[in-house]
Amino acid sequence: MKDKLKLISSRFSQQLSQVTSLADLDKLKLTYLGRKGEVNQLFKAMSRLDLADKRRIGPEVNRLKAKIEKALIAKARDLHSQTQTNLADAPLTAYLPASFGRLHPIEWLRQKTLNIFHRLGFIEFVGPHIENDWFNFAGLNIPPGHPARDLWDTLYLNLNDVKQEPLLLRTHTSNVQLRALKECGVPLRVMAFDRCFRREILDPRHSHTFSQFEVLVVDKGINMNHLKWLSDYFLKQILGDVTESRFRPKYYPFVEPGVGVDAKCVFCQGKGCQICSNSGWFEIAGAGMVHPQVLKNAGVDPDVYSGFAWGFGPDRMLMLKTGINDIRDLYQGDLWFLRG
Ligand code: PHE
Repeated sequence: MKDKLKLISSRFSQQLSQVTSLADLDKLKLTYLGRKGEVNQLFKAMSRLDLADKRRIGPEVNRLKAKIEKALIAKARDLHSQTQTNLADAPLTAYLPASFGRLHPIEWLRQKTLNIFHRLGFIEFVGPHIENDWFNFAGLNIPPGHPARDLWDTLYLNLNDVKQEPLLLRTHTSNVQLRALKECGVPLRVMAFDRCFRREILDPRHSHTFSQFEVLVVDKGINMNHLKWLSDYFLKQILGDVTESRFRPKYYPFVEPGVGVDAKCVFCQGKGCQICSNSGWFEIAGAGMVHPQVLKNAGVDPDVYSGFAWGFGPDRMLMLKTGINDIRDLYQGDLWFLRG
């Protein structure tokens, strides 16, 4: 039976090398992985073996099957990129063995991140994607006409028949800050990992839809040290123990003082490389102490309570960690990318 396996394996490789179209690849797939294909015949033949032989041969048949599946997928990808075949013409799913299903990269990072913060006592707060001006802008110290609105330009919705107030697609998860404070009161530890939207010129680093992860802590005696500790802790959990974070002064209207959080580049350990534009660091988050006016807007007394907010861009982190080089791939649902 071992010889048979070898024979099938080499015949498959030889036939695969001659395939030049997706239609032919389909046929080859049927010949080997179809219901009556070679691999299933092997499984059938195996059922006639005694137990010791089954134990010996079984893993080899499984290995052969996995090898064939992998080779078919790689070939499908090659043919696809050669011909730029439209997805509609290419039965991609035909090449996906059932075991290929897995979490979308963003969902994977979302679950990992939420787990880390659940353990630290944070609760998840889900805010709306369609938001009003107050929670997204004005309540966060960004009144109409404020220059910071340019950075967070968004898409406005004309739903005046339904609602009197102007509505927009939220530009950051910071819209949960006032909502969570109002709904849950203080002391508070909340987080939100979700989609945001901006009016962007699309390119590999900018997408109109993207993700953010927001953390808000409000309690008595909260200070910058807590923020720095949490920031370091999180980055080490995600990027590994070697990374460090640093704070740079940065302006956000809803925090005071505000900081940009940089992580030491994990690719060059801070020496400087292409990925970090030779700086040794890359910006990963914005953060700061919640502005007293924002606390007041939520009915919280800033003389008694203080807090910090921290918001980071998971897409960027994913791209750095996995080498995905176009943010739009994360949102287009392209099966060729997802199974890659
Ligand atoms: N919301 C900010 C942004 O979208 C990030 C941020 C969150 C900054 C919390 C400070 C505090 O860029």
